[in-house]
Amino acid sequence: MGLHQVDIGSDAYQQPGEVLAERIGARKKELGNKLLVLCHHYQQEAVYRFADMTGDSLKLAKHAAACTDKPYIVFCGVHFMAESADILTGDSQAVILPDLRAGCPMADMAQVEEVSWAWKELGQVSDASRIIPVTYVNSSAAIKAFVGERNGSVCTSSNAERVLTWALERGEKVFFFPDEHLGRNSAVALGIKPEEIVLWKRGEHLGGNSGETIRRAKVILWNGYCTVHMQFSAAHVRMWREKDPAVKIIVHPECRHEVVAGADRYGSTENIIRAVTDSPAGSRWAIGTEINLVKRLARQNPDKEIHSLSPFQCLCSTMYRIKPKYLLWVLDNLVEGEVKNQVTVDPGTAKLARIALDRMLAI
Ligand code: 13P
Ligand code: SF4
Repeated sequence: MGLHQVDIGSDAYQQPGEVLAERIGARKKELGNKLLVLCHHYQQEAVYRFADMTGDSLKLAKHAAACTDKPYIVFCGVHFMAESADILTGDSQAVILPDLRAGCPMADMAQVEEVSWAWKELGQVSDASRIIPVTYVNSSAAIKAFVGERNGSVCTSSNAERVLTWALERGEKVFFFPDEHLGRNSAVALGIKPEEIVLWKRGEHLGGNSGETIRRAKVILWNGYCTVHMQFSAAHVRMWREKDPAVKIIVHPECRHEVVAGADRYGSTENIIRAVTDSPAGSRWAIGTEINLVKRLARQNPDKEIHSLSPFQCLCSTMYRIKPKYLLWVLDNLVEGEVKNQVTVDPGTAKLARIALDRMLAI
């Protein structure tokens, strides 16, 4: 994605956390009803504490769409989420990403040019009109527009199985991108046979497959992945099972299939929060998702034992780019009537991407 973040000037913003927090609180008060701060669950605490609303990507997209009265939406998350919010909000609303370098490596693994090329190749060995494209919400607006234009849908980690079912009822095959693992985990959960699930390797002719393999496939998976969730392994699952036979293991579906298969449960960040929060006192959990969420769950549930599934800190470094000083900088500017770091999607792309997003919200 490679968006540039302007230098905010270190002197005014290089201050102790408590000073920045006080200043952010004051700016929020000044902006009052004009402002909505949305925070994804992976945000660091120093930012998350200022959220008006929190959620996983599906919930945040719904919040953005529902808050039609807020002229300024400060999105503490990553770029593709801010793009979705811009598509779902009105023309008079500005969606602001405090640090424009907050992208998602997985979303960057599917550029619209390479997906369009792959689509053409698929059409050479099968009937493209019988293929339904499905993109994970972790993708650029241009990719969502590509999907909208071809009667496909967006999905999130909360509804991937439902969207996949919808797509398979409408076509012979699904082309799923960018996340191989969410696609595979959802396809396996729906009972699709392993030989009907095919991997499309980026940059290879026919994704490294024969025409025959493609013709037999039901689900074709782009080989993108999340650099954070790939850090959890089957060895971590075994380690916990040996250490504590009573521990419950819950993981995000962006983890490899062997990790999901070894876990007790899997689900989106919202599902993970619900499962842990609703469990009885004394429960013990090993959680395979981003560390800021795991630590927050541990703090919020002192009556339970909560650990990361991995002994190492699995941090989403791009989510982590949203620092209090950048949040303060955009709010300072809003008070002065200056909108900095607005994320906009051009109207042509937004119109087509909205078709794919609305389809998801309707499924
Ligand atoms: P959720 O849809 O669970 O919020 O996941 C978004 C994400 O980026 C996870 O890596
Ligand atoms: Fe992207 Fe993974 Fe970070 Fe989510 S956790 S924003 S998928 S890199």
